[in-house]
Amino acid sequence: MTQVKGKKVYLGTNTKMYKGVADTASYLEELCRLTGDLSREALELFVIPSFTALESARRCAPRELVRLGGQNMGWAGEGPYTGEISPKMLLEVGADIAELGHSERRHVLGETDEMVNRKVLCAAEYGLTALLCIGETAEEKARGLADEVLRTQLKAGLYGLGAGGAERLWVAYEPVWAIGEHGVPATKEYAEARHDTIRRTLTELYGEQAGQAVPLLYGGSVNPDNAVGLIRMENIDGLFIGRSAWDARKFNAIIRDVLAAADG
Ligand code: PGA
Repeated sequence: MTQVKGKKVYLGTNTKMYKGVADTASYLEELCRLTGDLSREALELFVIPSFTALESARRCAPRELVRLGGQNMGWAGEGPYTGEISPKMLLEVGADIAELGHSERRHVLGETDEMVNRKVLCAAEYGLTALLCIGETAEEKARGLADEVLRTQLKAGLYGLGAGGAERLWVAYEPVWAIGEHGVPATKEYAEARHDTIRRTLTELYGEQAGQAVPLLYGGSVNPDNAVGLIRMENIDGLFIGRSAWDARKFNAIIRDVLAAADG
């Protein structure tokens, strides 16, 4: 089935450990200039730069055009957590999205579902949008465990999150095997099937209406050739893009293609 016409689409990027202050600023200035004519009623555009670039990023990109987020967040407002960034610090520099549980945090830096859960609850407490990233590894996929892994990551990651917190929740499905230079993008059919599992799990947890309202984004080697097919799927509300969005012109082209597809 195809997506409801005129539905809002969520398009964003995480620049990982690549762009510093100057590169982030010039990227955002160009992105705002290129997309300034697009109505934000049908588009939620967001960029998640490095922590050090956030403050100047906010000055370059008006909030009405681009929302900003942190690539990670500590699980308390303040405390003895050397090296962590708190929700209050993110809010202070104008970021209101916390990307939590990205595959690289889980699989390279050792974050567990329990740690991700604490962060999700803390983001909710401080009124940030939690962008919870989940996804199975290649091995789990090969063993037919993808849906079980997604259900577990959701139920463990959202444990204790009430209806109020769920109102500001976004979920990104990012299969580990699809991410990065050696990743193979999921087909739109495979992604939609996993999104359907995620949707059902969210409606189990939060009821039909609240579960349907959570934006579900697909990420993992999204590119100019597969973006439109993915966004047309019923349960794919947005795309969370890495490499293909790090050039503002290339991202702008994807944004325009996706908006045209979502609209008709
Ligand atoms: P990619 O990254 O689009 O470069 O595969 C996606 C991500 O890590 O979110």
